[in-house]
Amino acid sequence: RSAPPATLVIFGASGDLTRRKLLPAVESLARHNRLPSQFALVGVARTPMGDEQFADSALGDRSLLDKPQLQGGIRYVSGGYDDPDTYKRLAETLDGLDAERGTSGNRLFYLSTPAEAFEPVINGLAGAGLNHAREGSFSRLVIEKPYGRDLPSARELDAVVHGSFDEPQVFRIDHYLGKDTVQNVLALRFANSIFQPIWDRSWVDHVQITVAETLGVGTRGGFYEHAGAMRDIVQNHVLQVLALALMEPPASFEAEGLRNEKVKLLQAIRLPTNRDIADLAVRGQYTRGGTRNDLMAGYREEVGVDPLSRTETYAAMRLNVDNWRWAGVPFYVRTGKRLPARVTEVALQFQRPPHLPIPQDQLTGLEADALILRIQPNEGISLRFGAKVPGHSFRVRTASMDFSYEQTFAEESPEAYERLLLDALLGDPTLFIRSDEVEQSWRVVDPIIEHWASDNSPIPTYEAASWGPADADRLIGRSGRAWKNSI
Ligand code: BG6
Repeated sequence: RSAPPATLVIFGASGDLTRRKLLPAVESLARHNRLPSQFALVGVARTPMGDEQFADSALGDRSLLDKPQLQGGIRYVSGGYDDPDTYKRLAETLDGLDAERGTSGNRLFYLSTPAEAFEPVINGLAGAGLNHAREGSFSRLVIEKPYGRDLPSARELDAVVHGSFDEPQVFRIDHYLGKDTVQNVLALRFANSIFQPIWDRSWVDHVQITVAETLGVGTRGGFYEHAGAMRDIVQNHVLQVLALALMEPPASFEAEGLRNEKVKLLQAIRLPTNRDIADLAVRGQYTRGGTRNDLMAGYREEVGVDPLSRTETYAAMRLNVDNWRWAGVPFYVRTGKRLPARVTEVALQFQRPPHLPIPQDQLTGLEADALILRIQPNEGISLRFGAKVPGHSFRVRTASMDFSYEQTFAEESPEAYERLLLDALLGDPTLFIRSDEVEQSWRVVDPIIEHWASDNSPIPTYEAASWGPADADRLIGRSGRAWKNSI
């Protein structure tokens, strides 16, 4: 698959995401010859800079400047996002590139700015007529998260977007969908017949979804203060993975069919009521921790963070999905920064056998059967089950059958952003979030975020490099279950 002729315009060109993810994705596409020679890249940002300087700073690998896809095709437009002149100059630059490089009037506008700039940029583009492509060409908008900060603001943003762009022109990013292992949830479930029959309430005891990070907020304290774990990870990455893992089989992997099933699943998530919210959701904030040689600052000590901050860096929830397949099955999700291991996984724990013809003392070390989808790292799948321990007595202990991406496939996994950028250039919306999915996701997390905002009790804490606040163990422990030890 290769991209059609097009100009990629990145707003927020001097930002962190652009440097860390987008430009390396462009480089990699160029290196693998997935960009046509009729390609151009335009950076837009407030920082004054010339074309040469941007091209120089943009590419980690300068030798790519000799590739026909990038050679002479990098421009920079500096200006305020609410200044109509910025868009006038951008339009001229784009017309110039069409004439010079044959980019055919195809434009992909990538909004990688802070969320406050989304509205002025969209209005600016529309003001210069850049939202409409000329006949036979495309004009598309890629929007980074966060898409709103709650349901009303997401709807307001949608109104702004839809004021100038039609939904098929809009590509809302959730980079988790660009990960091969997240797409593999679909392969495992729907390209095989052996898992589907056990994928429901008759066999599954509960499901745990973990997105654990070892990193703290780093230099993003200012941004994170207004987000918190619930908005930053749960509303998007966790709910997307959950939807793919629990939704009904779509008739095809065509974009609308797949997204319809995700929306139906999200719609079936039961909302907590004010009465049970405290039992169903837990938050936490990391304090100083680690070892003497590797001492980590507490969240409140991080740069850009209020010393009295009440922002959660950890969130755990118990969710229920009210539909035929999942009635009565609890779903435990958790995410946090500064946890002891980096691990993202979906673990289905199966019910214990109805009767064990083996005495209890012969079962030490036997855990419930589980299927673990490891999204990252050590990408792969493990099936855990009991096996007879070698020897004269009949003892059973947990064993594991492991599939590892690295050991099984010689093919390389593209970076999530590389895959998604190519899809957006190709106009394939399958791995992007539709407007109604965003709404359904906010519907789920809003009541909890509101509850926490109005709760003045001290925020529970956990030491950096520990597995979250004690409340999280109580949340799952109430049903006699425990978090799977993820390392
Ligand atoms: C981003 C969040 O969406 O995802 C970050 O804003 C988080 O806070 C990141 O660190 C995690 O992504 P990945 O791909 O490293 O798991």
